[in-house]
Amino acid sequence: MASAMKIAIVDDEKDMRQSISQWLALSGFETETFASAEDALKSVGTDYPGVVVSDIKMPGMDGMQFLKKLMSVDSALPVIMITGHGDVPMAVEAMRIGAFNFLEKPFNPDKMTELAKKATLNRRLTLDNRALRRELSDGTTLMKKLVGTSPVMERLREDILDLGQADGHVLIDGETGTGKTLVAHALHAVGAKAGKKFVLVSCAAFDEESLGRKLFGPVEDGGALPLVEEARGGTLVLEDVEALSQPLQARLLMWINEQGSPAETRLVAISNLQEQGKTSEDVLRPDLFYRLAAMKITLPPLRQRGEDILILFTRFAEQFSEEYGCDAPVVSAQEAAQLLQAPWPGNIRQLINIAERAVLQNRRGSGSIASLLMAEDEDLEASMTTEGKPLKEYVEAFERMLIDNTMRRHKGSIAAVMEELCLPRRTLNEKMAKYALQRSDYL
Ligand SMILES: Nc1ncnc2c1ncn2[C@@H]1O[C@H](COP(=O)(O)OP(=O)(O)OP(=O)(O)O)[C@@H](O)[C@H]1O
Ligand SMILES: [Mg+2]
Repeated sequence: MASAMKIAIVDDEKDMRQSISQWLALSGFETETFASAEDALKSVGTDYPGVVVSDIKMPGMDGMQFLKKLMSVDSALPVIMITGHGDVPMAVEAMRIGAFNFLEKPFNPDKMTELAKKATLNRRLTLDNRALRRELSDGTTLMKKLVGTSPVMERLREDILDLGQADGHVLIDGETGTGKTLVAHALHAVGAKAGKKFVLVSCAAFDEESLGRKLFGPVEDGGALPLVEEARGGTLVLEDVEALSQPLQARLLMWINEQGSPAETRLVAISNLQEQGKTSEDVLRPDLFYRLAAMKITLPPLRQRGEDILILFTRFAEQFSEEYGCDAPVVSAQEAAQLLQAPWPGNIRQLINIAERAVLQNRRGSGSIASLLMAEDEDLEASMTTEGKPLKEYVEAFERMLIDNTMRRHKGSIAAVMEELCLPRRTLNEKMAKYALQRSDYL
């Protein structure tokens, strides 16, 4: 699905890098291999969409120099070092320089997979976060980023504005890709703590001990502040809060209690449990749950957002066509219905991905949106016929999209739109009001 993370494997021994690569590929990762650090540096740099696994002993630039170089280019890049058996000083030195973790030779492949999972999860979080931060300098742009006119989206915008102003911790629930991280950013940016620190950490990306140290200290010599300190006065976001162990939950609760007023540092806890049929209430200790869930936002899955699907698709297709310098794909009535019926397990992130591929496909002049949807989900054909929605919902969504597209094409000329859609002025005005379309947006 959306943007698979890569793993760059750097080792001068061919057998070694190939077997690591094969193993990780079997575990579902996309890998690339390099025979030297110098080679790897040509591909791996700032914002590299993945993580690095590197041997230490290599001719030319060795693993330690490579690690230093990578840290100077992108200090948040997870690098897993492979150290000689029992080479503790080397491992310690690598960790001090900023390695994500190390594996001792001969290593256990399962350990490697587990580390790779943690590292890629961590990386995705960093990159998502950077992308958001780049785009969103202030709260208004952020609120504009939240596309959609479904009643759910309208409520969400109001909730964000209300909760942003209020004191107290917030719990955000929702399936993957529904916008939880985006909403956490928005809460910070529209509230009294905008301008203060915004610190985000995934509880699933570290083992218990490192997470404990990261959050509460003590940090190693010369390290950064513990995150609860770094976020002081601002917002601390705990992604995947369900991954907190019982002892860490106890520590967090203690910290919350010690802090006194929640006005000081706001916690935003994000949980990803909905899809497994559990709720954060099932996994968090009750006293912590109640402290965190004083205010709760639950993001609905995309398939329940009705007309938002088409609006989002159109919006992202337009953005990508601009980016790629080509025309936006025209969505046929049938394709619109297919978009509305797709199950969207990856939610908005998946939709963005499909919109991008639809644009690229359109640029090549081949392929259909349906084939893109099917490629992601073999069972889709079945679900398209069984999981229906009221006809009214399709019709309205489609109507809105048609008017929106037509207005866009005619740059807000009401007369041209009336003519093309054979609509009297009054009906067009009524429909535009109903769908919250504003002429001024198209001029
Ligand atoms: N209402 C929205 N309008 C437009 N874009 C949105 C909206 N909600 C989310 N997005 C975009 O969808 C993508 C996924 O959102 P986000 O990363 O916040 O989801 P998430 O729930 O945190 O996912 P995960 O559980 O995988 O961490 C991001 O690119 C985000 O900008
Ligand atoms: Mg997220």
